[in-house]
Amino acid sequence: MKIGNVDIGNKLFLAPMAEITDSPFRKICKELGAGFTFTQMVSAAGVLKNNFQTLQNLSFNILEKPIGVQILGNNPSIVYDAVQEISTLKPDLIDLNCGCSVDKVTSKLMGAALLNDPIKIGKIVSAMVKASNGIPVSVKIRLGRNQKKINVIEVAKSVEDNGASIIFIHARTSNEKYDSEPHWEWIARAKEKINIPVVGNGSISQPQDVFRMIKETNCDSAMIARGAIGNPFIFQRYNYMFDTGIDPGNPSFDSISATLLKHINFLVEDYGEIKCLYKVKKNIIWYFRNYPGIDLLMYNVFSARNLDSLKLLIYEHTEKVKNNYYNSSENYDIDSKFKKRVLFWLENEYEMI
Ligand SMILES: Cc1cc2nc3c(=O)[nH]c(=O)nc-3n(C[C@H](O)[C@H](O)[C@H](O)COP(=O)(O)O)c2cc1C
Repeated sequence: MKIGNVDIGNKLFLAPMAEITDSPFRKICKELGAGFTFTQMVSAAGVLKNNFQTLQNLSFNILEKPIGVQILGNNPSIVYDAVQEISTLKPDLIDLNCGCSVDKVTSKLMGAALLNDPIKIGKIVSAMVKASNGIPVSVKIRLGRNQKKINVIEVAKSVEDNGASIIFIHARTSNEKYDSEPHWEWIARAKEKINIPVVGNGSISQPQDVFRMIKETNCDSAMIARGAIGNPFIFQRYNYMFDTGIDPGNPSFDSISATLLKHINFLVEDYGEIKCLYKVKKNIIWYFRNYPGIDLLMYNVFSARNLDSLKLLIYEHTEKVKNNYYNSSENYDIDSKFKKRVLFWLENEYEMI
């Protein structure tokens, strides 16, 4: 698939995820075969104010390219100015967020709230296209505000008519929770009605889901969000299956640990040893969540106070898992908790320090 002049072939998109798709994670996903990465959303107004956090969330490294920058905004003239500024950084795509459903965003009539007004979305897209200095523009949408107000086709047409080059469809309505079943059939319907590439998104947790989504919806490519958290290997595994038809399965526990340690080194480089601790803790749990011993590991991770003890925990845990130290019938149903909330441990007694 082509994004402007960039051809990502059959490789997949890493979805924008706030607090997750930072530079270290993007580098890891890219190394493991993601075709295209994304920043998390940044506020268009924040870009114009040179807000420090906004600029940090916006910054990217050549190793993470091709990359899209996602903006949040609802005022065409502010968005125009922000896109002009962003275009000087030369990302490969500039995306408008029309999917974020958290109250803090929708109460300001941004994100998924824009779905109520396809004409306004069109005006914003048109401003983006004029301001982007030739960088392709995209929009990431949900199906509508709720089941009774599904307007994905109308929104997709407005996006296409106003010059966007790609549309990303998260196949849920904005009032639907992440653990609900996505409605991929709407991706298929949108694909029939528009000519720009359609990228499907929603509940892809295995490479097999990608093949199924493409077959069922005829979408041009797929975008992976939670399926890549603690599992950047999904890109490599999909690419291998695409090329050979053979599923290489999950990586060995040693290579999971090695990738996690590399990810941690990137986190230390970017955030420093103290600031990265919370991110390191989250990632240890995400990488190891589907393996025996996770309950004890979580307890130990949350008790650890520095990077050295966390690294030691990883080495010890890896040896224990490989030597079948833990009871493998232990089942905390972590996966369904994770699907409800990626910070699933905050529902129980564990506290982050
Ligand atoms: C923790 C988290 C943060 C997210 N942040 C963003 C964001 O900044 N921008 C965006 O468009 N979508 C965001 N999303 C939505 C995802 O990009 C994706 O559309 C959604 O998770 C559905 O895909 P999945 O079922 O594969 O997880 C976020 C999702 C999660 C779980």
